[in-house]
Amino acid sequence: MAIRNIREYGDEVLTKRCKEVTEMTPRTRELIEDMLETMYEANGVGLAAPQVGILKRIVVIDTTGEDPHILINPRIVESSGEQTGSEGCLSLPGKHGIVTRPEYVKAVALDVNMKPFELEGTELLARAICHELDHLEGHMYVEKVEGELQDVTPEDEDEE
Ligand code: NI
Repeated sequence: MAIRNIREYGDEVLTKRCKEVTEMTPRTRELIEDMLETMYEANGVGLAAPQVGILKRIVVIDTTGEDPHILINPRIVESSGEQTGSEGCLSLPGKHGIVTRPEYVKAVALDVNMKPFELEGTELLARAICHELDHLEGHMYVEKVEGELQDVTPEDEDEE
């Protein structure tokens, strides 16, 4: 496994729509392992493949530090409610902003064996799912920020 370089806001790769994964290969498995390692090393709660420069529909999410989710070709199939709160991104270090997201989402995705599964989340997990899936469409949370981006202070929360 290896830590990969995280692309930062302004990098064109973060504005592109990612491609579906059609088969699991050793190379893609390695990418997923590297994404997890890179996310943990950066103390993030989520990371999308374009953030390491790869235009594939893969995201990793772990909102607790001990519950990694790997989502391949994910789609949100259900959402409800609303939460408004602070959000950050590993591709825009040192900043955060207020974003409104659904309170609950259900996603369907493929796992590392290309088997379908569902992931339901509320609160931070719902927010992370929405945030990471936006990356796969070439979008970043800054497009949805209410008010101004803020500088991160030490007590601020996790980045995605
Ligand atoms: Ni992000």
